[in-house]
Amino acid sequence: MAKITTLLLFLFFFTLLITTSLSKNLCHKDDKNTLLKIKKSLNNPYNVISWDPKEDCCTWVSVECGDATVNHRVTSLDISDDKISAQIPPEVGDLPYLQTLIFRKLSNLTGPIQPTIAKLKYLRFLRLSWTNLTGPVPDFLSQLKDLEYIDLSYNDLSGSIPSSLALLPKLGYLELSRNKLTGPIPESFGSFPGEVPDLFLSHNQLSGSIPKSLGKLDFYRIDLSRNKLKGDVSMLFGANKKTWIIDISRNMFQFDISKVKVAKTVNLLDLNHNGITGSIPVQWTELSLQTFNVSYNRLCGPIPKGGDLQRFDAYAYLHNKCLCGAPLQRCK
Ligand SMILES: *[C@@H]1O[C@H](CO)[C@@H](O)[C@H](O)[C@H]1NC(C)=O
Ligand SMILES: *[C@@H]1O[C@H](CO)[C@@H](O)[C@H](O)[C@H]1NC(C)=O
Ligand SMILES: *[C@@H]1O[C@H](CO)[C@@H](O)[C@H](O)[C@H]1NC(C)=O
Repeated sequence: MAKITTLLLFLFFFTLLITTSLSKNLCHKDDKNTLLKIKKSLNNPYNVISWDPKEDCCTWVSVECGDATVNHRVTSLDISDDKISAQIPPEVGDLPYLQTLIFRKLSNLTGPIQPTIAKLKYLRFLRLSWTNLTGPVPDFLSQLKDLEYIDLSYNDLSGSIPSSLALLPKLGYLELSRNKLTGPIPESFGSFPGEVPDLFLSHNQLSGSIPKSLGKLDFYRIDLSRNKLKGDVSMLFGANKKTWIIDISRNMFQFDISKVKVAKTVNLLDLNHNGITGSIPVQWTELSLQTFNVSYNRLCGPIPKGGDLQRFDAYAYLHNKCLCGAPLQRCK
């Protein structure tokens, strides 16, 4: 009996093996045609050139297909690190099941963020980064309700941040760092409908003050460094938040830090190069900090003793109005 069962099992798996290897061509023909058009639009670059029309497109480099539930349609296109001189091909909008779209480290990828991306209604992950894209951060991204992750960093994007991005119900990560964005942080960013996304807006030319509404949110990571933001950001802090990273360095913020309580979860606290006044709160001795910098502000008074505050060298405290005590000189 056991022998027969083993034999049947063997036959079963053998048949499975044969059928799967025979029906290997899973690629949908529309997707294959579209991908070949994309290859042509990109001027047949090196990585992508290996796309062989005779092979199953689901096995092509840079391409991934979904399982049977989506008819093995193409769900991911990731073109990175290639010598491409082109714009984003409009045909990317004709891969209707795409969930992940990545163009990264392509210094000669130019032109705007392709408007046909608006057709990709299942898109969850969009990374167009380390390229030379120009034009605005498009408003149409807010129509792609499944978007969870947007990274448009290291480009030449200009214009202001569309306030409609705050309509995305599943957004968990928004990175627009290292562009030429201007204007304020939209008021709408104080009311994301879903979770509060990680927010990376550093190295732009953003101006104005931070909307008060952002104070209601509990950002896990927020980086506003190297902009031209001004005013008070004390509402971003709070003892009861779960913030991990907060970087507001190199802006024009002006507020009194003396009563600002920082969450114990904070690991990176960088306030350098602003116009922050007041003295460092004693509560900060309770923090476990990996990175800490309050240099180049207008702080005054003794540096509280204890916790991690003496673990950092003088460079974390230099160029203030009248800070004193270790690691700086003794207070008079
Ligand atoms: C980008 O284009 C310039 C000018 O056409 C060329 O010299 C350079 O090698 C290209 N770089 C890459 C990474 O393709
Ligand atoms: C954009 O292009 C310039 C000059 O063509 C190049 O120096 C720069 O590295 C490119 N940027 C990126 C992020 O690749
Ligand atoms: C703090 O920031 C200043 C100014 O950018 C820099 O010179 C210094 O090295 C930084 N110190 C630490 C400890 O990170």
